[in-house]
Amino acid sequence: MNASDLPGTPFLAYRDRHLFIEQLRLQDLAVMHGTPLFVYSKASMLHALSAYQRAFAGRKAKVHYAMKANSSLGVLQVFARAGCGFDIVSAGELARVQAAGGKAADVIFSGVGKTREEMRLALQAGIACFNVESETELDVLNAVALSLGKTAPVSIRVNPNVDPKTHPYISTGLKGNKFGIAHERTLQAYKHAASLPGLKVTGIDCHIGSQITTTGPYLDALDKVLDLVEQIESAGIPLHHLDFGGGLGINYNGDTPPTADALWARLLARLDERGFGDRQLMIEPGRSLVGNAGVCLTEVQFLKPGEQKNFCIIDAAMNDLPRPAMYEAFHQIVPLTLTSEAGKVYDVVGPVCESGDWIGRDRTLNVQSGDKLAVLSAGAYCMSMSSNYNTRGRAAEVLVDGDKAHLIRTRETVSDQMRGETVL
Ligand code: LLP
Repeated sequence: MNASDLPGTPFLAYRDRHLFIEQLRLQDLAVMHGTPLFVYSKASMLHALSAYQRAFAGRKAKVHYAMKANSSLGVLQVFARAGCGFDIVSAGELARVQAAGGKAADVIFSGVGKTREEMRLALQAGIACFNVESETELDVLNAVALSLGKTAPVSIRVNPNVDPKTHPYISTGLKGNKFGIAHERTLQAYKHAASLPGLKVTGIDCHIGSQITTTGPYLDALDKVLDLVEQIESAGIPLHHLDFGGGLGINYNGDTPPTADALWARLLARLDERGFGDRQLMIEPGRSLVGNAGVCLTEVQFLKPGEQKNFCIIDAAMNDLPRPAMYEAFHQIVPLTLTSEAGKVYDVVGPVCESGDWIGRDRTLNVQSGDKLAVLSAGAYCMSMSSNYNTRGRAAEVLVDGDKAHLIRTRETVSDQMRGETVL
């Protein structure tokens, strides 16, 4: 194992056998803060963002970080200070944006099931746009806006029926998915939206899935959306912005997605060709901004040799790192300190009472009880999807900036977990 084997970020590397994130030794952070511990590199997040910023230099474009990927306040603050807006999917996420110093005016609100109360809160806060996902939602939002004496800025999320060629649970732009309005019905939906006094049509949007590693599906979806823009504008409904969602994949295990600037060079060329190059653009990347910027540090509890399998039981589990259990996702698992001895093959598993509680299968590791490991590419969809299953407290989080470590979330205690509960 050497630095070049570590996926996706130049800010994670072995130096003299020790794994460092930016200027800090991960072993020291694990000892200081305990495990499981999420550690993020601020420079890595800003580096990922800079690929988008390079792509959009000289264009009218705004990055709305899809905060479902990682909604911890310290992470949101980094993106808010870097000038990002946010893509939210609940009123809770809006409250987090505001608590982290972000502005409601830079927020777009996606999701198929916004409640009336969430619509009210977002309208009162003055968000930039609602990404509407059904005709019924248009009517409900119209009614809520009128009841507040406001006009809701809307964009309709198109379902272009394009296969993003990713895990079925994270494909969103196929006919059978619950997301968006079918592209055949989009023009009709826009005509309806334009007729409603409580709505102001401002844009169009599309998000076809997550962990997409090829450019083709994006180009296909883009063409379908631009065909629609032409039809909608010919019907006399001007669209101010085009929002192409998120979805760009990262390298977990030798995956080779295009870089954000390479992807956008292709998409912008197509936009230019079709005469839409000077339109206001929005995007909603999540994973590609934070995924490779984070690791989860964990300690080996026990080694359990078996007839068919050897188990390496760690103190992180499916409640901390749900992606393997949910999507059979792969995360690299590496030691914090390298040794030269040969390893053994283990299934790396957590303490939760489920056979699905595995973090990595058939991994070669040279480990002993008490050793510390890093689960890589854990910046996105790990802490934000973590749970208290088995009454396990959520991990602590540290944000590293150069040679400084900021504890951005303390470890959750059992009393934190029981707050709000009562016995009869
Ligand atoms: N915009 C919308 C409307 C979305 O639904 C999503 C992700 C994004 C943007 C951001 O996509 P990204 O750039 O992060 O791919 N939990 C799964 C991923 C679920 C993605 C849901 N929607 C996982 O761990 O792989």
